[in-house]
Amino acid sequence: MCGIVGYVGPAAPSNRPLDVAMEGLARLEYRGYDSAGVAVVTPDGLASAKRAGKLGNLREQLEAHPLPAGSAAIGHTRWATHGAPTDVNAHPHLSEDGRLAVIHNGIIENFSALRAELREAGVAFASETDTEVVAHLLARQMDGSTDLTGAMLAVTRRLQGAFTLLAVHADAPGTVVGARRNSPLVVGLGEGENFLGSDVAAFISHTREALEMGQDQVVSITADDVRVVDADGSPAEGRRFTVDWDANAAVKGGFPTFMDKEIHDQPKAVADTLLGRTDAAGHLVLDELRIDEAVLRSVDKIIVVACGTAAYAGHVAKYAIEHWCRIPVEVELAHEFRYRDPVVSEKTLVVAISQSGETMDTIMAIRHAREQGAKVLAVVNTHGSTIARESDAVLYTHAGPEVAVASTKAFLAQITATYLLGLYLSELRGNKYVDEVAGYLEELGKLPAKIQEILDRQQEVRDVARAMKDVSSVLFLGRHVGYPVALEGALKLKELAYIHAEGFAAGELKHGPIALIEEGQPVFIVVPTPRRPTLHAKVVSNIQEVRARGARTLVIAEEGDDAVNEFADVVFRVPRTPTLMMPLVTVVPLQIFACELATAKGLDVDQPRNLAKSVTVE
Ligand code: F6R
Repeated sequence: MCGIVGYVGPAAPSNRPLDVAMEGLARLEYRGYDSAGVAVVTPDGLASAKRAGKLGNLREQLEAHPLPAGSAAIGHTRWATHGAPTDVNAHPHLSEDGRLAVIHNGIIENFSALRAELREAGVAFASETDTEVVAHLLARQMDGSTDLTGAMLAVTRRLQGAFTLLAVHADAPGTVVGARRNSPLVVGLGEGENFLGSDVAAFISHTREALEMGQDQVVSITADDVRVVDADGSPAEGRRFTVDWDANAAVKGGFPTFMDKEIHDQPKAVADTLLGRTDAAGHLVLDELRIDEAVLRSVDKIIVVACGTAAYAGHVAKYAIEHWCRIPVEVELAHEFRYRDPVVSEKTLVVAISQSGETMDTIMAIRHAREQGAKVLAVVNTHGSTIARESDAVLYTHAGPEVAVASTKAFLAQITATYLLGLYLSELRGNKYVDEVAGYLEELGKLPAKIQEILDRQQEVRDVARAMKDVSSVLFLGRHVGYPVALEGALKLKELAYIHAEGFAAGELKHGPIALIEEGQPVFIVVPTPRRPTLHAKVVSNIQEVRARGARTLVIAEEGDDAVNEFADVVFRVPRTPTLMMPLVTVVPLQIFACELATAKGLDVDQPRNLAKSVTVE
């Protein structure tokens, strides 16, 4: 959470450092939008501006009161943790003499003790944030010198918690210094200019050459140089990589919102995730494998750890992996896994699913799992992210950058990748022959076209959603792989439209939730293929049960499934799809429904209230 950008390069044309910082913030705003701020190092000292609310507020302020040009700039977009989202608490935070500015992502856990110490020494605080202590500590540490890197090293040794910090000082013009611990920071390498960002989106339109920073490292960038040092000050090498995301993938491309665009990106996200996965002999391969295949053969339990939508992808994966590999699969919310006493051994494979690769709850879960001797396999979307780096094996989803806060295309790509994982393991462990796996891959290969068919008919869903914009509660039911789809449908509606929405396993209904049904209650029901007759019949009975009690039934069913017609007020059709792969089609109308209903209510679907894209605090 919180987006961070830093830039050093030529001051011309106009105020390039400030322009680059503002452009980076626009691309990072999905990480938090409680406030935004910038600081520029100018020949006359430091100039800064900050405003509560979205980036547009800061932009207005800069138009009314432009900042002078300079050689370096930092920018911040905030997701508030300590202190309300006000102008005063917005970053950057300045030293008392106004010559040093700091921006921060994360939480300084010992900030109260540090603040007390600084107050005792006579420092007057301007804000309620934990970040401000860093500004004062750095200023005191510099004490007349120009060694901002040395000051950063000394100060970070005193900090507890998770942080990415960037600092600039009027006495060190043309330099931005950054530090990271348990929070992301990447370096963008340009020609006569260099960049820092919370993720590559911050600088993707300027350079694709990047440097990954390790834990507890400090970096200083100038226009011509990038220096990374370890916590003890000794020189370190970052890992260079080339960003393979298309810069255009992070712009709306003619769609009204990022969410609309990303819903439309889904056929490509699934196709790209499937691309190039087999070797010359037709065997599936993972992207990075630092585990012996013999260890993977001996795995006797899989635990999927993830949060939110990624955890629902894990629920879907459980059905497929258990069926194909005959290994028990548990799915656990990463934050719950970490703080109970899970039964984990050397024979446990922990699968971490994460779009950002930076979700702190998931990072802590994999660290805990590895301490217990388990191997960790990551399914992540973001190259070079912490989860990818800290895992024993990686399978990348190729969804491209996901900017809208609510996850859509990453969810489909995660499901696709976990199917690949299930098939890989089934082949490796001898549960499936290579030609059987090829059959499944062929079915998966048909999915992008099926998803496109649903998108081509999306107006039906949008019309129904618009007409329902005043509802106050919607329920979602599903069985088997339709159950996590119901949970995801409810989550999308809650987070985008701010209305009560709940997903249930359809069989659970009669054990309590059916009491919620009253005249007119909208209920979505995700129906499995009629080619699984027993499963299908049970769900059709569930539709009747809620209908009999007055519910308005909105049914998602396969083409040609006429058994639902009699009991459905509305039917949304999806193409004929094998049972296990149905989530890749059935969830799409639910995403469109939530997006359209929220839009009809006048809400911002890209930046729902109180949320941030990457949850980098526990
Ligand atoms: C919901 C949503 C979140 C994320 C969750 C995990 O639309 O986006 O529930 O799925 O915060 O994030 P990642 O996948 O980045 O670990």
